[in-house]
Amino acid sequence: MEKGQEAVARFLRQRVELGAFDLLFEERMTGATAAKSPPGSLPAGAVPEGYEELRATALACTRCPLAGGRTQVVFSDGNPQARLVVVGEAPGANEDRTGLPFVGAAGKLLDLLLASVGLSREVSVYICNVIKCRPPGNRNPQPIEIEACSPYLRRQIEFVRPEAILAVGTFAARLLVGSDRPIGELRGKIHSYEGTPLVVTYHPAALLRNPSWTRASWDDLQLLCGVLDADNRP
Ligand code: URA
Repeated sequence: MEKGQEAVARFLRQRVELGAFDLLFEERMTGATAAKSPPGSLPAGAVPEGYEELRATALACTRCPLAGGRTQVVFSDGNPQARLVVVGEAPGANEDRTGLPFVGAAGKLLDLLLASVGLSREVSVYICNVIKCRPPGNRNPQPIEIEACSPYLRRQIEFVRPEAILAVGTFAARLLVGSDRPIGELRGKIHSYEGTPLVVTYHPAALLRNPSWTRASWDDLQLLCGVLDADNRP
């Protein structure tokens, strides 16, 4: 790993470990980062019709055995009118406790990575997971759980109608790309999910364990920004 890269990785790890994410990232309200507001769109803060019903159904879901062990269903965070949907894997202990996706160390790194390209979960991003309930001991989601839960994700994406999707980690990538190939082969290119541009990148938890992937993650974010910028051209 190059010296600069190593420093970035060390910096990120230290910040996450310290829980001291007090970096002030100015929300760059450029076309690439602002929430979408095409003519005829919903007023700011409104949710699409039917969205609350979907959420209520998910919060009461018992479609798979994970329902028995959860504290809370982790449906989403961020803006349902965002230009970007970020899809992770499954809730961990912090998410199960709070009911919000990506609130632990990996989530803090995700926020930092998004902020580094001017995207914030409050304004420009909608975040959710492939499965909505915590697998015991944070084990990998099982095929039966993904099959039971993925209809919620598909509906969420339909409601948000983002301009781009970022799949973080193997499970989101494989589900949305529709491929069993390793993430190292799926990242670095623009896929399509039902006609929406889809970029794949490493899961932030994996990035914390493998700082040498920092450069690749940065490249993936640049690819994503290219999609959002291109979308914004007249
Ligand atoms: N990892 C995920 O994939 N999702 C979360 O919500 C938290 C950690």
